[in-house]
Amino acid sequence: MTNEKLIQKARQALENAYAPYSNFKVGAALLLKNGEVIIGANVENCAYGPTNCAERSALFAAYSQGFRKKDITKIAVITDTPIAASPCGTCRQVMSELLELDCPIVLANLANTDTKISDIKELLPYLFVPENLD
Ligand code: THU
Repeated sequence: MTNEKLIQKARQALENAYAPYSNFKVGAALLLKNGEVIIGANVENCAYGPTNCAERSALFAAYSQGFRKKDITKIAVITDTPIAASPCGTCRQVMSELLELDCPIVLANLANTDTKISDIKELLPYLFVPENLD
């Protein structure tokens, strides 16, 4: 599947965002090796802290269905911003464990004027890894 098609899926996910406090809607779409797409949106909470970002919603949905990092080909994230927004620090940490470090992370904006492709190696250098707990 092309990046453009996956961004389109993320755009659909963004429509599902529950963001009554920030009014900032985010959509994410994961492409699996089997061709399936799993989407996620940000889901906010009046206590603010429990808010879940779109990237984590999509990743947790995939893992909840039994998929693992080896099954994930790429992820697209879309925001309604002049330039494509980049995942927050919490999502980068989660991505560092739930995605392969070189899994393409496609960042796009709704206006379709900006697209960037990155990965966790670039977004989160000197990362904290499970082995650090040994
Ligand atoms: N948000 C995401 O969904 N992903 C990010 O990477 C950054 C922030 C959400 C959280 C909150 O619902 C809203 O955007 C404003 O921060």
